[in-house]
Amino acid sequence: MRNFLITGGAGFIGSNFVRYLLAHYPDYRVIVYDKLTYAGNLTNLADVSHDPRYAFVRGDICDANLVEQTICDYAIDTIVNFAAETHVDRSILNPGAFIQTDVVGTYVLLEAARKHRIERYHQISTDEVYGHIPPGRYATETDPVAPRSPYAASKAGADLLVLAYWTTYGLPVTITRGSNNIGPYQYPEKVVPLFVTNALEGKPLPVYGDGRQMRDYQWVGDHCEAIDLVLHRGQPGEIYNIGSGQEIENLTMVHILLDELGAPTSLIQHVEDRPGHDRRYALDISKIRSLGWEPRHDCEAAIRRTVRWYRENEWWWRPIKEGEFREYYEKMYGNRRKLVIGN
Ligand code: NAD
Ligand code: TYD
Repeated sequence: MRNFLITGGAGFIGSNFVRYLLAHYPDYRVIVYDKLTYAGNLTNLADVSHDPRYAFVRGDICDANLVEQTICDYAIDTIVNFAAETHVDRSILNPGAFIQTDVVGTYVLLEAARKHRIERYHQISTDEVYGHIPPGRYATETDPVAPRSPYAASKAGADLLVLAYWTTYGLPVTITRGSNNIGPYQYPEKVVPLFVTNALEGKPLPVYGDGRQMRDYQWVGDHCEAIDLVLHRGQPGEIYNIGSGQEIENLTMVHILLDELGAPTSLIQHVEDRPGHDRRYALDISKIRSLGWEPRHDCEAAIRRTVRWYRENEWWWRPIKEGEFREYYEKMYGNRRKLVIGN
């Protein structure tokens, strides 16, 4: 492994991973390939943009010619695919973009990887492919996928294609399924950055339904370390769950966030729930632990650290909240019914 193609590297997790790779491996070259959708932002990579080991190509993963051209131009031997449409609520508004990028785009990358004999194709997947996990259970890698949102279904479809390329063609693939990531440079449509920035602006925090849904909020840097480990020590053909191993209610997340900010709980506003909202995600992370990895943050530490980053980096998120985001927010929340629920 030497020449990495990081698709979706201008997004949240991808940009954190690019920074991580360049910091830890002096002899790796990192080529970011990204369409720069609303979620892609070269500001996320500003601090590495002058590094001679880094290059950027603007492109769509569905564009087979450009993908192959980039693989040849940079003698790519490893592909890590972060590129995706990633927001459940947007997948409910517009599923087509998810099928196109997450499923068809993954197929295009797999075909290119097969043709150019890539040494490792790594797919960044999500715990959402397992669907709702009933209390008392934890999803293991051998569980069948049972996605319930268009986003989760498109990611599950991609995972199945990746596994089929291992089984059928022997393409050396690995998959990681991460829980909810939080940390620097996350587009403020996702719940934690949305709520922190809303609170800093004195706006309400729109909690879906009763807010008792459970998520495993993990620190993005911990996720990056685990992906690195799977790339170097994981077995081809295998899936690895990655998370903090803990899950908390959304309302607990909100209270920690408000406490870190010193902001009032009166900002909490219960609103009409998301259709098909998965009540609980919970991962069994014993497989990745057996490779020698341990998360460095529990959910609370990850939330508090994330809050501090957004408080100290208003220069990053304020312009984002002015642009496309404003229109999206109006469409998603403008007419949403308010609920009266005790906290
Ligand atoms: P993000 O939305 O912040 O970034 C996605 C990036 O992909 C953007 O830079 C965007 O421009 C790019 N992109 C979108 N469509 C593209 C296309 N057709 N061609 C090329 N580039 C394209 O996403 P993220 O939160 O960083 O997630 C990255 C990956 O991790 C995704 O595959 C996602 O499913 C997975 N994941 C995310 C989380 C999470 O909590 N955010 C958790 C588990 C897994
Ligand atoms: P989100 O960040 O969209 O991630 P995902 O749906 O992929 O887990 O949402 C995390 C949780 O927060 C999820 O249970 C939905 C909830 N949520 C709200 O209560 N209000 C919001 O405005 C958003 C965006 C999410």
